Amino acid sequence: MQSTKSSVDSLFINQSQLGRESFQAALHTSIDTLLAEWQKDKGPYSGILPGKLAASVESLFQFQPFGEPIESVFQDIKEHLLPHLVDVSNPKCLAHLHCPPLIPALAAEVLVSSFNQSMDSFDQSGIASLVEEEILQWLCKKFSYGDVADGTFTSGGTQSNYMGLLLARDAFCQNTWQWNVQQKGLPSEAHRMRILCSKNAHFTVKKSASQLGLGEQAVVLVETDEHHRMDLNDLKQKLTALKEHDLLPFAVVATCGTTDFGSIDPVRDVYDIAKPDGLWIHADAAYGGALVLSEIYRGKLDGIELADSMTIDFHKQFYQPISCGAFLLKDKRHFGLIDYHADYLNPKEDELEGILHLVNKSVQTTRRFDALKLLLSLRLIGEEGFGDIIDHTIQFAQDVAALIEQNDHLEVINPEPEINAVVFRFMDEKRADDINKIIHRTLFQTGTAVVAKTVVNGHTCLKFTLLNPRTTITHIEEILSDIVDIGIAHIQSGRVLR
Ligand SMILES: Cc1ncc(COP(=O)(O)O)c(C=O)c1O
Repeated sequence: MQSTKSSVDSLFINQSQLGRESFQAALHTSIDTLLAEWQKDKGPYSGILPGKLAASVESLFQFQPFGEPIESVFQDIKEHLLPHLVDVSNPKCLAHLHCPPLIPALAAEVLVSSFNQSMDSFDQSGIASLVEEEILQWLCKKFSYGDVADGTFTSGGTQSNYMGLLLARDAFCQNTWQWNVQQKGLPSEAHRMRILCSKNAHFTVKKSASQLGLGEQAVVLVETDEHHRMDLNDLKQKLTALKEHDLLPFAVVATCGTTDFGSIDPVRDVYDIAKPDGLWIHADAAYGGALVLSEIYRGKLDGIELADSMTIDFHKQFYQPISCGAFLLKDKRHFGLIDYHADYLNPKEDELEGILHLVNKSVQTTRRFDALKLLLSLRLIGEEGFGDIIDHTIQFAQDVAALIEQNDHLEVINPEPEINAVVFRFMDEKRADDINKIIHRTLFQTGTAVVAKTVVNGHTCLKFTLLNPRTTITHIEEILSDIVDIGIAHIQSGRVLR
């Protein structure tokens, strides 16, 4: 081994002077580099497309046998990496449910990564396990989940939706055929099992169904109403039709904040319709869950406490750095359906002694202490502070929709945004779809703004997801003016998108 004790000391956290200095130097260099980048007056993206980034990537991959000084490495990071990242904190970055991270949470990230706790077993996490449990109980209370509720942190909405449907599937097989899927795999009747969700539900419902061995065929799409919420009459009809065809509906996913429109399915009504047939109700509140912190808008989540399980994403409207999400379960006994014990990690006898191993409730093993980010954010900002940010962005979205409506070239698809997503399009009788695609691409390639593009009823639309409370109406006016200019220029040039 070439390394001496002192060089190893400079690589890992330790009590020596060298260890402390090298940790501090690394943090300072990285923070200074970031601050220098953020001082630049620039748009949210460099505009460079993948084909032209190859040289920058190559410049980053110059490994020296025994490394290099931090200054030269960070010089490359400064020159070749940071300018080509998408700047999510820029007020004109408005595309996805991808938030600017809160500074308190970034500070927590340093602690989380430095202590590198693993949440699977108590002997790898100590008090961190208890902190995570407390945060989850706080969340359960916020959602008025009863005394037997529990949850787990997840990597995000995809994993939480997967867990909801996994438990729904296994509970159904257990109750219907006394069939233990964990041990025996899927029963022969599984091909008849069906999940209902609105046609605006997130694609991970289908993805989960396919990964759970039920196939995409298991997902039955329910129509939406004029507000893009699940149409309750269609839900009733689809349920009846499934039963008539000898199929087995076992779960409904109610989306509380659809990805495109932020629309919220009426969970209470969904419950009233589906519960009498014993269906598992999963609320996908990845986007809308944060409304629970808003005095003004909490009522939009009416009935969510009736759901058997729910998805909450902190890396959306709770402004946490990726990744950070939670899965909540109304009756914690259902976690038993995915319970496994490994002698080296979480032996059964520990449970009898009351030793907490959070792996028992998770589909992951090694897992980050993301709960600390949320704890620090709540301590520094306060619940009402969070509520104010959410209220502001929802009210702002209404102002933005009104502003777009006044523009003769643009049409708003959801004039009364449910949360803070506004979908709209540049209007043109002949080539609107092409022009909206061109607008989206041009904004990105010029680095002017990062907005989203989606398809509504077969037509290409643009979308602002207004999570960033620092975005002002002036920013929006500037982006709209660019959009109209690009649209008109393309009509005049008569160019067609290839
Ligand atoms: C409604 C909804 N559910 C689930 C997800 C998936 O979440 P994640 O990307 O955190 O896995 C998203 C992502 O945007 C979403 O909008």
